[in-house]
Amino acid sequence: MSSESAGRSTWKSRTGFILAAVGSAVGLGNIWRFSYLAYENGGGAFLIPYLVALLTAGIPLLILEFGIGHERIGSAPLAFRKIGKKWEWLGWWPLLFTMFGIVLYYSVVIAWCVGFVFYSVNLAWGDDPDKFFFETFLNLSSSPFEISRIQTPVLAGLLVVWLITWVIITRGVSRGVELANKIFMPLLLLLTLALVFWSVNLDGAMIGISAYLRPDFAKLVDPMVWVRAYGQIFFTLSLGFGIMIAYASYMPYNSNMTGSAVITALANSGFSLLSGFGVFAILGFMSFSQNQPLEEVVRESIGLAFVAYPKAISMIGTAGPLFGVLFFLSLTVAGISSAISIVEAFVSGVEDKFGLDRKVLTTVLCFLGFAGGIIFTTDGGLFWLDIVDHFINNYGLVVAGLLECIVVGWFFKLDIIRKHLNKVSKMQLGSGWNWTIKLFLPLFLVVILMNQLVRELLTAYGDYSWASLVGIGWSWIAITFLVSFILAVQPWKTESHLEKGRGEEL
Ligand code: TRP
Repeated sequence: MSSESAGRSTWKSRTGFILAAVGSAVGLGNIWRFSYLAYENGGGAFLIPYLVALLTAGIPLLILEFGIGHERIGSAPLAFRKIGKKWEWLGWWPLLFTMFGIVLYYSVVIAWCVGFVFYSVNLAWGDDPDKFFFETFLNLSSSPFEISRIQTPVLAGLLVVWLITWVIITRGVSRGVELANKIFMPLLLLLTLALVFWSVNLDGAMIGISAYLRPDFAKLVDPMVWVRAYGQIFFTLSLGFGIMIAYASYMPYNSNMTGSAVITALANSGFSLLSGFGVFAILGFMSFSQNQPLEEVVRESIGLAFVAYPKAISMIGTAGPLFGVLFFLSLTVAGISSAISIVEAFVSGVEDKFGLDRKVLTTVLCFLGFAGGIIFTTDGGLFWLDIVDHFINNYGLVVAGLLECIVVGWFFKLDIIRKHLNKVSKMQLGSGWNWTIKLFLPLFLVVILMNQLVRELLTAYGDYSWASLVGIGWSWIAITFLVSFILAVQPWKTESHLEKGRGEEL
């Protein structure tokens, strides 16, 4: 049996680990991003590429990330350092662009949800939720560089989000992250079940549900539908973030890792499918009550939650406020459990390398997270959010996933990971898994990437000026890339990089 690395935190139980992984995976992306994508990309027919993406990319990659973390016993930077000296930066980069990119605006969206929990109580949006959200709440300016003020209610929500995150992470892995998810995940399931049962019983719900489930097979020939399905699987399973690697490293030796990956992935997608029923039922109800076709009531992703839902809540009648509180509370819970996962993964990386104190580190990181989020709480914030999100999701995550497959598949003996996983898990991986990681996924991801890149260069994303796309989007990617190299060349203050992986010891 292997000797556990001295002092490494561990989960109390496998259930706790799976709940934490599901907590990271289930987030804002499952509730409205998934539903909106499904609607826009052929209703029931989207489920086909989505499930294919889950089976061909989601599950194999999640198994890989669990395998890397568990076999190498390290957070992403340490695990990649143990794969090869020159790969350490690949562990830092995703942590950097998630911690100083995705989570900065993601926490602001959670802050909006916190605000809307309170606004639901007295239906503060009145009879024009659109105007309320964009003009009163966000006070949206007309370009990313037109910034004149910070929106205080958003800032207050952001402070709440970071305080909760800080409390949870300073308590450590088992007493903080594990405990929080043991409370959050069942709570989230209950909230969602309540909302779904409620929604499907509203008048007109079936109009929405049939649009959700009715397949439009013509859409399947559109390559973009497939690209979006794969992109969604990456985002929703926290793949390419460096999070799942850290989480897996906290598992003791004899743990069924492959099985845990499959359960996590299925639970996450099950959650998406379930909440899709709720979202579509509400849209059906609105279409019925307003006597408008369904296409008219659906808005772009942000509008769906913060404009269409408030409208529906006002129409439900006396129970509306309760419905609103439950809905925005469930988004908040789902969001926070994802946000804490990146802070934990980052803390884990720095702890591994520099041996710094968790409390001090968490305090600094949460402060930086809060401070860095302020730009998104300004009147130009939504533009920043949109640009950073576009670049990091479409390039950061996919490139990180691609490099991960190439480095572990071609510059390391992938079989060490596979044999290790097979030794500790009930479910056995065949060599087909190796080929998925080595060949199928890299080729597929390159196609996705090229496709995006060409479109990017042909037309400026979302009508923004090139100055803002280069100044905000591309530089965000470039700076985090640079910093990852700077971190990687720093000397190790701990000896953990000298330890062996679990597979090699045997
Ligand atoms: N999987 C989450 C979702 O579907 C997104 C997510 C995971 C995330 N980890 C994160 C977002 C860390 C921000 C920070 O919504």
